[in-house]
Amino acid sequence: MNPVTEATAPEAKKPALPDAQTVTQVKHWTDRLFSFRCTRPASLRFRSGEFVMIGLMGDPHPKTGKPKPLLRAYSIASPSWDEEMEFYSIKVPDGPLTSKLQHIEVGDEIILRPKPVGTLVHDALLPGKRIWFFATGTGFAPFASLLREPQTYEDYDEVIITHTCREVGELTYGAELIESLKHDELLNEVIGEGFWKKIKYYPTTTREESPKMGRITDLLRSGEAFEDLGVPPLKPETDRAMICGNLAFNQELKALFEEEYGLEEGANSKPAHYVVEKAFLD
Ligand SMILES: Cc1cc2nc3c(=O)[nH]c(=O)nc-3n(C[C@H](O)[C@H](O)[C@H](O)COP(=O)(O)OP(=O)(O)OC[C@H]3O[C@@H](n4cnc5c(N)ncnc54)[C@H](O)[C@@H]3O)c2cc1C
Ligand SMILES: NC(=O)c1ccc[n+]([C@@H]2O[C@H](COP(=O)([O-])OP(=O)(O)OC[C@H]3O[C@@H](n4cnc5c(N)ncnc54)[C@H](OP(=O)(O)O)[C@@H]3O)[C@@H](O)[C@H]2O)c1
Repeated sequence: MNPVTEATAPEAKKPALPDAQTVTQVKHWTDRLFSFRCTRPASLRFRSGEFVMIGLMGDPHPKTGKPKPLLRAYSIASPSWDEEMEFYSIKVPDGPLTSKLQHIEVGDEIILRPKPVGTLVHDALLPGKRIWFFATGTGFAPFASLLREPQTYEDYDEVIITHTCREVGELTYGAELIESLKHDELLNEVIGEGFWKKIKYYPTTTREESPKMGRITDLLRSGEAFEDLGVPPLKPETDRAMICGNLAFNQELKALFEEEYGLEEGANSKPAHYVVEKAFLD
């Protein structure tokens, strides 16, 4: 054996992932939900509420042998000013991405394509007095960003966040985040002391006992949600809303908004009263 050759032989280097970012924190909330934080690309600018494509390297192609990135849309759960990125994720047992992503650990690399897009942004809404965020399941993620965004509190007197999940444990990520706002020194300084007093949090469950049971759609229709929150039904003069849930939920709320409350859907190019985004593709 030639010791020189051995000492200087180039190490087999693991190829770095394209658009690689390093995981800095992982928290498992239930057996179906986890959140994680990772480094942020220095050049990435985004608006709170937008989503990006993230993922992992997939298996090598059976013919070419080349590994292909396995990417999915993910709402950015951290606010635009945060030096790291945060994501809130489902674990689909046989899901191509999340069956692997759920096992990431601190120090691992993920792929993050730095091209943020989305409709759940303040720019797509006309000025108003009160903003409503309506979420089911992981649809809470974009609101985790917007609830930490100073503009939310600069633009509105009241911020109402409703979150409907099947079980109580699925509310924990959102509930802890909202509670943490009260004690967050940086946010209280940046946004203004006591900014969190503008928030009204309305969590509901549908399949496990909790203080407020029922789908938010039903609670709006019956008027119970307005009574509980101490606010009048939504109207175009004062209320703005963002919706993020499953397709049926989004469609039901859209119909309610347009037919009952007279709200018009907005877009980046034409701001109006409410905006919608799917929490996942069906
Ligand atoms: C605009 C947009 C933003 C998204 N943001 C997020 C996010 O912030 N967090 C997140 O976890 N997912 C989000 N998703 C869904 C995400 O893109 C993937 O579908 C998810 O990560 C599962 O990937 P997968 O490859 O494991 O399974 P897929 O093959 O992508 O999904 C398999 C099945 O699992 C179910 N499913 C997928 N995602 C969810 C979910 N989030 N909640 C409940 N059931 C689901 C659906 O029935 C789907 O058909 C978003 C999707 C879109 C379109
Ligand atoms: N959450 C779980 O414990 C669980 C466990 C195993 C598998 N899964 C699977 O994972 C997938 C996603 O489940 P998920 O619970 O994350 O999301 P989901 O099915 O979209 O349900 C999330 C919440 O939204 C409510 N909802 C659904 N449609 C609605 C509508 N049209 N209007 C108002 N509210 C509505 C649900 O109430 P309802 O309960 O009344 O539908 C539930 O409280 C499903 O395919 C499910 O079979 C879920």
